[in-house]
Amino acid sequence: MRILAIESSCDETAAAVVEDGRNVLSSVVASQVEEHKLYGGVVPEIASRRHAEAIVGVVQEALDQARLTLGEVDAVAVTHAPGLIGALLVGVNFAKGLSMAAGLPLIPVHHLRSHIAANYLAHPELKPPFLCLVVSGGHSHIVEVADYTKMRIIGRTRDDAAGEAFDKAARAMGMPYPGGIHLDRIAEEGGDSAFAFPRPRVDGAEYDFSFSGLKTAVINQIHNASQKGVELPVADLAASFRKAVVDCLVQNFQKAAEDFHCTTLVTAGGVSANSLLRSRLEALCGEKSWKLYMPPKELCGDNAAMVGAQGFYEWKAGNRAGLNLNACATMSIEG
Ligand code: KG4
Ligand code: ZN
Repeated sequence: MRILAIESSCDETAAAVVEDGRNVLSSVVASQVEEHKLYGGVVPEIASRRHAEAIVGVVQEALDQARLTLGEVDAVAVTHAPGLIGALLVGVNFAKGLSMAAGLPLIPVHHLRSHIAANYLAHPELKPPFLCLVVSGGHSHIVEVADYTKMRIIGRTRDDAAGEAFDKAARAMGMPYPGGIHLDRIAEEGGDSAFAFPRPRVDGAEYDFSFSGLKTAVINQIHNASQKGVELPVADLAASFRKAVVDCLVQNFQKAAEDFHCTTLVTAGGVSANSLLRSRLEALCGEKSWKLYMPPKELCGDNAAMVGAQGFYEWKAGNRAGLNLNACATMSIEG
C-alpha cells in the first residue's frame, strides 16, 4: 500500500510517499528555519504562511521523486495533532482537498507517534512492544509502545521539554535557533564537570522529568557572569548543561526499563539526534545486553516519511478520517 504523507506541524513543510509503512519511495522537506532564525524561534503566523506557499510544490515534488501520479497512491496521511494550530491546518486542509479530489482515504496521524515510526523505516526488524523515549522540541515522554497504535505514557515532563530546554539554554549562550544542535556540537569541546547543575527529580513520580529549573540555572549563571563582566567558557557551560539534561533522561529511561522488564529501548524526536544521549544509551544497552534502536540523525527531525510509516499502521488499525477532520494543537499520544 502506497501512502502519500504530509507534515506541517511546526516549521518544516514535508511530503513523502511510503510503501507498506517501511519503504520510503520519496521524501521532501522544505525547512523554514532560516527565516525563523531572525526572530530566535518559530513565529507561528510566519510558519502558517510559508506552509501555504510551499505545500503544493513539496507534495508535487514527493510524487515526482516517487515517479507516481496521485491516481497511483492508495491513501493520504496527514499530521493533524499536536503542533502549531495554524501550521497544522495547512497540511490538514491540503490533505482533505487531495483526498476529496482523488477519492482517496484520509488517515490522521499523531505527530509523536510518527516520530516513533521513523524507527520502522530505519530498522526493518523493529516491532512493538518496546519502551520509547520521545524527546522533541515540545515533548519529553517515556512511552510504553504495546502495539503500533496502542501506547501509554509512563513518564512525562512537568514543565519544559528537553528540546525546549536545549534551545533556550543555547539562546542564552548566544547560539542561533534552533540551538540544540549547536549546543551539542560545542559541548564536544568542553569539560562536562566545569559547572555544577542540578539533576531535578519529581517527588513521587520517578519517571517524570523537570527541565525548567535546570534551564533557569544556566540562564542565571550567564546573567550573573555578564553583570560582573566575566566571560564564561561556553564549551564548558554547554558540556555541563548537556550532561545534566542527558543524565536526567537516561536515568529515568533506565529505571522505567528495569521496572517494566523491557529490554528493547527506542528513541524518537529531534533530541534523539543528541550525540551524548546516543552514546550514553549505547553504553547502557551494551552493558545490560538490551536492544537499542534510534533513528538515523536525518530521521530524528520533522519529516513526512515517518508520517507515511505511522499512517500505514493507523490504516491497518482501521483509523480513518472524514472531511470533518480538524487540527488540534494538543492531543495525547495515547489517543
Ligand atoms: O522533533 P523535532 O524536530 O520537532 C518537534 O516535534 O518539536 O525536535 C526539535 C528539537 C529542537 O528543540 C532542537 O533543538 C532539538 O530537537 N535538537 C537537538 C539536537 N538536534 C535537534 N537537541 C539536542 N541535541 C541535538 N543534536
Ligand atoms: Zn517533531
